[in-house]
Amino acid sequence: MDLKGRHFLTLKDFTPEEIQYLIDLAAEYKRKKKEGIAVDTLRGKNVALIFEKTSTRTRCSFEVAAHDLGMGTTYLDPSSSQIGKKESIADTARVLGSMFEGIEYRGFEQSIVEELAKYAGVPVWNGLTNEYHPTQMLADFLTIQEIFGDLKGRKLAYMGDARYNMGNSLMIACTKMGMHFAAGAPKRYFPEADLVAQCQEYANASGGSILLTEDPMEAAKDADVIYTDVWVSMGEPDRVWEERIKDLTPYRVTTELMGAAKDTAIFLHCLPAFHDLKTKIGKEIKDRYGLNEMEVTDEVFESPQSKVFQEAENRMHTIKAIMAATLGA
Ligand code: CP
Ligand code: NVA
Repeated sequence: MDLKGRHFLTLKDFTPEEIQYLIDLAAEYKRKKKEGIAVDTLRGKNVALIFEKTSTRTRCSFEVAAHDLGMGTTYLDPSSSQIGKKESIADTARVLGSMFEGIEYRGFEQSIVEELAKYAGVPVWNGLTNEYHPTQMLADFLTIQEIFGDLKGRKLAYMGDARYNMGNSLMIACTKMGMHFAAGAPKRYFPEADLVAQCQEYANASGGSILLTEDPMEAAKDADVIYTDVWVSMGEPDRVWEERIKDLTPYRVTTELMGAAKDTAIFLHCLPAFHDLKTKIGKEIKDRYGLNEMEVTDEVFESPQSKVFQEAENRMHTIKAIMAATLGA
């Protein structure tokens, strides 16, 4: 499998075999990390990490993975670079592409990361846009594979805002890999019709399926994986909280909802999660709307079924695999 020189912008661009290869490569890197085996075959190379939105997992994963591979990193935050303010994306891409072997971008529209990829001349990796979060998918699927031993035929139920980066990306990833994707959400939070049609084609080829339903119990029924995400994503205005709480509270992941899934089901969340009052925003929402927890109850988040920290660790191993494969480690 040769992915050298490829961009990693959305899983739409990758075949099921390529996705499986990256997941297996990540498992191999994870084993080597645990065994203390050095993998610094990309010594002398450097990568630029552009973050127009905040991050804990993605930034740390790119930095640690790059360092493990022997590479240097430069982190560019929204306030300390010229990007988009004084310098266009196309010009930025040509400058960074002349100094770095690869570029990570986290930010807003998918068209921005596509523009970077068009002009950079080096691999560009999508570290989250409004539309997609493809590096998260590999971590999620490595976790599912570690726990169940396989992906094909498994059912993943996503609860909440299914038309944004996580819902879109999970629908793509599931249907590519022969899994059954269900979204439990009010109709206006369903993914866009064009993307659903495209994913239906992936499902036809892979043996997967898509179910979009307003009934949370129907979505969760017999699922192997129950998945949710924050109700308000980065970059969205504060004023949407009220309608999201009203619209999405019926889709909160509770012990009762987990009960509709298989006995062996696991809970995943890309994180960060609002499951208690130990965050600034969590406290503000409590003061404004009286909620103690949002998209997932603390009981489910802290239960043995919750594999969210295994999933978070897998961000690093999978991002390492993506950089290694596209840079030809
Ligand atoms: N899941 C995820 O992308 O986390 P960060 O926002 O912390 O990078
Ligand atoms: N939908 C969330 C995902 C965070 C990893 C966001 O975009 O903020």
